[in-house]
Amino acid sequence: MTTNDIFTAAKGAMERAYAPYSRFPVGAAIRTETGAIHAGCNIENASYPEGWCAETTALGHMIMAGGGRVSEIAVVAEKMPKIMPCGGCRQRLSEFVTSNAKLHLCDMNGVVETVPFSTVFPHAFDLEPGT
Ligand code: THU
Repeated sequence: MTTNDIFTAAKGAMERAYAPYSRFPVGAAIRTETGAIHAGCNIENASYPEGWCAETTALGHMIMAGGGRVSEIAVVAEKMPKIMPCGGCRQRLSEFVTSNAKLHLCDMNGVVETVPFSTVFPHAFDLEPGT
């Protein structure tokens, strides 16, 4: 399994982060089952709570490109050796992940650790539990 492409997409997205308030740029990339990669950065706002995360931007790009099921996720932040998606983004991602989706935790050089998404978000809110 090559993770270079999805890591490179996440890192490239991080370079576009709009994070003048936290000064904490984040990049995320998601790969769908078809192989397409969609990336996103965090986008902050002077009204602080109105900003949003890199993972959320990436999901928006996926949906606008036609949607899909997410089989891999990569997240990178230059100021953190191994960033985890926040709780809100785990819930958003859970809407679209495959049952065996992988989460790649990255530093600036590449993937540091890969974990099953299901292990970091085992009890998602689901309107139809058990399906
Ligand atoms: N952030 C993300 O983009 N993804 C995460 O998973 C955690 C946090 C952003 C939000 C905010 O712009 C900055 O990081 C500091 O919290």
